[in-house]
Amino acid sequence: MTNVVIDIDDVSFNYGSVPVLENISLKIHEDEFIGIIGPNASGKSTLLKLILGLLEPDKGTISKFNHDGKAQRNHIGYVPQHSTFSRDFPVTVGEVVMMGHITASSKFFRYSRKEIELAKQVMQKLEIEEIEKRQVGELSGGQLQRVLIARALVCQPEILILDEPTANVDMRIEEDIFSLLKNYSEHMTIIVVSHDIAFISGYVNRVACLNRTLVCHNTESISGKMIEELYDAPVKMIHHHH
Ligand SMILES: Nc1ncnc2c1ncn2[C@@H]1O[C@H](COP(=O)(O)OP(=O)(O)O)[C@@H](O)[C@H]1O
Ligand SMILES: [Mg+2]
Repeated sequence: MTNVVIDIDDVSFNYGSVPVLENISLKIHEDEFIGIIGPNASGKSTLLKLILGLLEPDKGTISKFNHDGKAQRNHIGYVPQHSTFSRDFPVTVGEVVMMGHITASSKFFRYSRKEIELAKQVMQKLEIEEIEKRQVGELSGGQLQRVLIARALVCQPEILILDEPTANVDMRIEEDIFSLLKNYSEHMTIIVVSHDIAFISGYVNRVACLNRTLVCHNTESISGKMIEELYDAPVKMIHHHH
């Protein structure tokens, strides 16, 4: 196994008095492509926000490490859950992608030549360079997801975190996006939340099942019965072939 890049150690979290996550321990390794699944309100988005540092654990710690095993603040790209992005905002595809370069420490609203070049490369990879001048409000669900992924990739993150990136797109586009992520995962740690275990198991290295606490985090130990218990309802285990 490669280096641990994120070490979640016995983390608990509540919003006010409601326990949302309890005793979560999970080690995520360099260049791992890990899926997190679980029913609605099981704490998936909250766990991502804790990893990102947008929320602080009430108990336990989350440590991040770079390639040398040194503690550090990693470069993380984040694609939030679809609904949080406002499509009414009058910006173009190219502008949204460039926003990925803006950080809290940016002093001037001006991009370097290198930043512009990186945005071009990412847009080509995601096949959105032809729609660069379009308004985001005019895009299809699949196009918008690609734009949001491009925005997260443009700062060349070591870790990419995506929260249900294909919730509103059809199956063919979902497959396109996951193939692309699989390619990126050869040189990048990727954490993706999904509702569809049968689908993502064809792409990820490992699936973690969350329901307030971690039910399991080894793909081999996932059984139909366990999934039924997780969702409290029968779920078909379907094996996809790619
Ligand atoms: N900002 C918030 N304030 C209070 N409760 C919240 C907040 N965000 C989420 N919750 C609650 O925490 C629980 C877990 O939410 P979330 O992490 O979004 O779950 P999931 O992504 O698995 O659907 C839910 O019961 C939700 O209502
Ligand atoms: Mg969520």
